[in-house]
Amino acid sequence: MIELPGKALARELIERSRGAARSTPLDPIIAMAREKRLDDGAAFRLVCRLWALERLFYYIYGGWGQGLELNDFPPGVKYLFARQIMDESTHEMLYMDTMLRKGWIEKQRDAFEHPCGRFAINCALSSYAYTLRYFASYPHSVRIAALNLGPKIVELAWMEQLAAALDDPIVKGVFESQFVENRSHINMGRRIVEEHIATPFESELARRVTESACKDYAKFLRELVNLVMERETEEQKGPMGAIFQRVIE
Ligand SMILES: [Fe+2]
Repeated sequence: MIELPGKALARELIERSRGAARSTPLDPIIAMAREKRLDDGAAFRLVCRLWALERLFYYIYGGWGQGLELNDFPPGVKYLFARQIMDESTHEMLYMDTMLRKGWIEKQRDAFEHPCGRFAINCALSSYAYTLRYFASYPHSVRIAALNLGPKIVELAWMEQLAAALDDPIVKGVFESQFVENRSHINMGRRIVEEHIATPFESELARRVTESACKDYAKFLRELVNLVMERETEEQKGPMGAIFQRVIE
């Protein structure tokens, strides 16, 4: 049997991310849900901010798609990427539908105007989106490793715990319905790394970008928690705070 070149690397990245996923910045929100303290307002801010992130994946994947060339990867790899783009856009619509269905907003535009849904240039959401978008110039296998064997593993972990803690069938369903796709993104990430990352240079690159994606994703999650709990975010407190405030108001 042919040994897959990136098998050990895929295992290493998965184990590292699973370690990071044991405790995530979302723990206080999961605790609130378990203690039935996550009220409607908090659930709305959570869904609205997650929607803002999903919305940015159109921009991120658009950049990655432009970086794919004819014959650089087999068609299977590109098919899986197309599936991933479709799943992410489904999640974006899922969050939007939930906000409308729950009556948290009257029309789509309200979400674009809410501080949690609005895009600001200097916040943790934008740094995470810029980090991922920047990967457009990296080999596809490397950026798939960075996202799917990094933040996606952390995301699935907190989503499973949160869904288990929630009671409201609609909000619970929003998270439960993403499990299948997110698991398939992780499996696809593993397959692409195992088959297509073969050189020490690419392996080292994959380790570095996975680490930086995870760091920025954790920053995004901390900001998300602050917004859900209506606490000041780091950016609002820092030297750019006044500008940030103006952008989100
Ligand atoms: Fe998603």
